[in-house]
Amino acid sequence: MNSDIERVLVSEEEIAEANRRLGEQLSQDYAGKNPLFVCILRGAAMFMMDLIKNIDIPLEYDFMDVSSYGGENTVSTGDVRIIKDLDTSLRDRDVVIVEDIIDTGFTLDRLVELFNTRHAKSIKIVSFLDKPSRRIKHVHVDYNGVKIPDEFVVGYGMDYDERYRNLPYVGVLKQEVYSTK
Ligand code: PRP
Ligand code: MN
Ligand code: MG
Repeated sequence: MNSDIERVLVSEEEIAEANRRLGEQLSQDYAGKNPLFVCILRGAAMFMMDLIKNIDIPLEYDFMDVSSYGGENTVSTGDVRIIKDLDTSLRDRDVVIVEDIIDTGFTLDRLVELFNTRHAKSIKIVSFLDKPSRRIKHVHVDYNGVKIPDEFVVGYGMDYDERYRNLPYVGVLKQEVYSTK
């Protein structure tokens, strides 16, 4: 295990299991709809690529990069900036937003509002992790992998200062790593 990690919160086996379960459910719910999966960069990239391998119906996907935090702040400001927009029109599409984690809910709240103005036919959310204890904006999560307590997690796409995204599991970062910076 990486020496900066205090303990594993979601193991590779648990990740695979969650992806199988979510993939099966989404395959049923979106059969015949040609859904558009929208991956929110960068954190959700690893999750989305695993998830869609477990979906056995036709679908399309696209990527969007948004930033929810202003500058050096570690506290969410509720402001969501578009860094890279979608190339695909959302009009009359069944959209599935793919996120790695929902924390305060600001990112998804703003995205759902934005996608509604683009006339999507339906908008649903799949999030690998959910940290309900930190929620400020209520967001309905349609498909959730794992609910986690309020801890500083990295890995499986999630970073601290752009590191640890490539860990194949979700781990709790040792406090000394982020307190000595
Ligand atoms: C993280 C995470 C979600 C968002 C959740 O992304 O991947 O997208 O924050 O937080 P919220 O519910 O409080 O809005 P981040 O902005 O750190 O970018 P990244 O995915 O590129 O790491
Ligand atoms: Mn993100
Ligand atoms: Mg981040």
